[in-house]
Amino acid sequence: MPERERIRVGIVGGSGYVGGELLRLLLSHPFVEVVTVVSRSLAGKPVTRAHPQLRGRTELKFSAPEDLKESDVLFTARPHGQTMAEMPGYLKIAERVIDLSADFRLKNPQDYPTWYGYEHPHPELLGKFVYGLPELHREEIKRARWVAVPGCTATSAIIPLWPLVQRFRVKLVVIDSKVGSSAGGAEPGPDSHHPERAGVVRSFKPTGHRHIAEIEQELGLKISFSPHAVELVRGILSTLHVFLEDEYTEKDIWQTYLQAYRDEPFVRIVKERAGLYRFPEPKIVAGTNFCDIGFEKDEHTGRLVVICAIDNLMKGAAGQAVQCFNLMCGLDEKIGLDHWGLHP
Ligand SMILES: NC(=O)c1ccc[n+]([C@@H]2O[C@H](COP(=O)([O-])OP(=O)(O)OC[C@H]3O[C@@H](n4cnc5c(N)ncnc54)[C@H](OP(=O)(O)O)[C@@H]3O)[C@@H](O)[C@H]2O)c1
Repeated sequence: MPERERIRVGIVGGSGYVGGELLRLLLSHPFVEVVTVVSRSLAGKPVTRAHPQLRGRTELKFSAPEDLKESDVLFTARPHGQTMAEMPGYLKIAERVIDLSADFRLKNPQDYPTWYGYEHPHPELLGKFVYGLPELHREEIKRARWVAVPGCTATSAIIPLWPLVQRFRVKLVVIDSKVGSSAGGAEPGPDSHHPERAGVVRSFKPTGHRHIAEIEQELGLKISFSPHAVELVRGILSTLHVFLEDEYTEKDIWQTYLQAYRDEPFVRIVKERAGLYRFPEPKIVAGTNFCDIGFEKDEHTGRLVVICAIDNLMKGAAGQAVQCFNLMCGLDEKIGLDHWGLHP
């Protein structure tokens, strides 16, 4: 790898799960120097207090918000609604900003009161953030100064649907997602209390989930989406029930996905004839940046069943953010993301 100056990186919201995953990736990135990791609650404490998996890897300590240093690239990973007001300040101290919350994903300011229940304080910035999904917006991301990384379940819906929407007339899409508990963040609540969370298959938002807004924005298509909390820490499995106006065969779907994603480094088409893992499985992609897509035609009804597995903290958040970072910095987008899954 050629010698080059290290890119100075800051992280805000560094004590959360996404912050921890960003650190895991960025501390091993050959062209990155992490200069500040902000946490209000753990300022002055070693980052390993929140992220014990990094013991022996770093001596970094958390900084208070007022000690955030200038950086080349700033990652912001705070709960939604907490970054929108402060973004103008961040844009002044970092040449590039990658936000992992929902605060800059939606282009239409009206979508914030509709889906999130509050007005956006900086609607003028919304059109300036690029939606950070490389499979759809790679060239824009390369030129971008500011990127809004997609939501995790949105990623697991948009990547498998995009090629279908390009090629076919889609009549109806119903998405059923099974979501691991880390998608809810590190802040405990009544729903994450172990006796209440363990063993459940909980329908927590059968209609009206906020990610519908960004899925529809990207696809230009009305979709139905119902997520379920399941007995996983990491991972999302989305089953998409797709009804097409057009006649199609499984071969057409193969061709459609191959044409769209043959050269994508992190999208794999998984449809085997035999074996236990014939279709995508969150367990197999945990810790990786892969988005695995499988499908089968239901000859009985014509329904196309599409199955997508990702790790919510990787392709669903920090991995995708690092992929965008690489593109924005003119680097190979795979750098720092060369993780394969575990089995069993
Ligand atoms: N978890 C996922 O799978 C996932 C996937 C995609 C996108 N995201 C998005 O990424 C962001 C971070 O998610 P996460 O799971 O890492 O959340 P998290 O574990 O709850 O961490 C959020 C971080 O923000 C800080 N924070 C909490 N409340 C705050 C407030 N009111 N004001 C300012 N800072 C606050 C916390 O640090 P201190 O209190 O110590 O400052 C914490 O480090 C969220 O916007 C989330 O929607 C998450």
